[in-house]
Amino acid sequence: MNNAAPLIAYENVGKSFEQGRAKALDDVSLRVAAGEFLAVVGGSGSGKTTLLRLANRLITPDSGTVRVHGDDVRNVDPIRLRRSIGYVFQSGGLFPHMTVAGNIGITPRLLGAPVQEISARVDELIDLVRLERSHRDRFPHELSGGQRQRVGVARALAAKPKIVLMDEPFGALDPLTRDALGEDYRALHRNFGLTTVMITHDMAEALLLADRVAVMRAGRLVAQGTARELSQSTDAYVGELLNTPRRQAERLRQLLPMDGA
Ligand SMILES: Nc1ncnc2c1ncn2[C@@H]1O[C@H](COP(=O)(O)OP(=O)(O)OP(=O)(O)O)[C@@H](O)[C@H]1O
Ligand SMILES: [Mg+2]
Repeated sequence: MNNAAPLIAYENVGKSFEQGRAKALDDVSLRVAAGEFLAVVGGSGSGKTTLLRLANRLITPDSGTVRVHGDDVRNVDPIRLRRSIGYVFQSGGLFPHMTVAGNIGITPRLLGAPVQEISARVDELIDLVRLERSHRDRFPHELSGGQRQRVGVARALAAKPKIVLMDEPFGALDPLTRDALGEDYRALHRNFGLTTVMITHDMAEALLLADRVAVMRAGRLVAQGTARELSQSTDAYVGELLNTPRRQAERLRQLLPMDGA
């Protein structure tokens, strides 16, 4: 990783929700560089969402420090912080009683942007995430799952954040839609110079989309690195997680000759 100051830095972070229960996060240290696309992988309950929520101060750590833009988030106004970071929620999290336009424009509206400006921004974002403008006035229940996720991404980008946190953004989608959305988002990440942290259950997706992958298990960060670096990890769990994409790649190589013959 480069030596520039990280945009997000966790330093020995610990978090418990209930006394006597296992820690949701245990001594986690992790740096996310400006412009980086980091995927966080791990089983259910391993602490992934907790990690993300600490970065925009939806929760605060029991021990250790979380810094965003170099500032300890404890010293930053949480509302300001949240409005400056795009967040795509696990399973969409759209407001059901608001239209597509209402959902996408919510943060600029809360920030007090003029109505005309919000409207133009909404159209721009609808194009950007490749929704149809005719869907502007639909409600979330009138959209497909993939379209809803696109609205979620558009909403996260509405206030032009530099940081985007995504909690299983493409979870419940068919593989083709998932792939298309992932690629589309990757292009946005690059074009806008975003810094992205994306949670996923899927190691293959993580390896294909992200620059680096962090692996969580039972509240601990057990490994982090590029695909190549992870492949050299001696951690048994990391090896296990890499087995599936490895086997799939090998099978597909045999089943799908690349020259089309
Ligand atoms: N608000 C809360 N109150 C009590 N316990 C919580 C709370 N949030 C999370 N936990 C607990 O902390 C642990 C980590 O939860 P977290 O949501 O971070 O897991 P996760 O890796 O995101 O899981 P999943 O993949 O299922 O979303 C779990 O044991 C969970 O039950
Ligand atoms: Mg979660």
